[in-house]
Amino acid sequence: MIRVAILVSGRGSNMQKLVEVADQHGDMIEIVLVASNKPCDAITYARNRNIPAKVVDRAAYDSRALQEEAMATIIEKVQADWILLAGYMAILSADFVSRFTNRIINIHPSLLPAFKGLNTHERALAAQVTEHGVTVHLVNAALDDGPAILQAKLTPFPNEDAASLAARVLTLEHQLYPFILISLAYGDLVIEGGRPNWRPKQNRRHPTDDATKHFLETAVIWS
Ligand code: GRF
Repeated sequence: MIRVAILVSGRGSNMQKLVEVADQHGDMIEIVLVASNKPCDAITYARNRNIPAKVVDRAAYDSRALQEEAMATIIEKVQADWILLAGYMAILSADFVSRFTNRIINIHPSLLPAFKGLNTHERALAAQVTEHGVTVHLVNAALDDGPAILQAKLTPFPNEDAASLAARVLTLEHQLYPFILISLAYGDLVIEGGRPNWRPKQNRRHPTDDATKHFLETAVIWS
């Protein structure tokens, strides 16, 4: 059984997918906390689902350091094994990251190292990329910079706009992040020495359903 804290700041669509997969694997995954740095829809959803939810409001603290201290204390109190960032709009300090070394994971809507930061879809279109997508990565003290765990890709359509591309990448996100969580829960994915290590496909403990299998075979970059 793994204990998971999810940090959010906005609508929380990725968080909902993580909650759904935790529901399906209740004996393996417990969402012990959803926490945000401001009031947001994701917190409302978590409360409605009776998941422990806390707003550690940046506006209520004099400094980022104090807000982070409060956040870290809450996470330690619930004894989370993993901290999954799901649209958490704050840059974590080196101090915070070192408190949870190799246990913080983020999802970022680009094929890192390309397009760190915001407005990734607009920038990918402006750069006329032939491939775009999403990265799940370990978090270190630099923005969108830690080792990639897994990526999923798509090809932008000719003349596609940013809204369409964002929606299609979000569909990939909603498949990739739950797969990562299941893989952690079943020990198919372990983090060793700050690097992801995957159990060989034929030995994985979690059986892959057909839809996930198709996703893994067509969109995922196994590198
Ligand atoms: C997602 O695109 C995620 O990759 C990025 O922030 C967005 C959050 O969306 N880090 P949601 O709140 O999960 O709907």
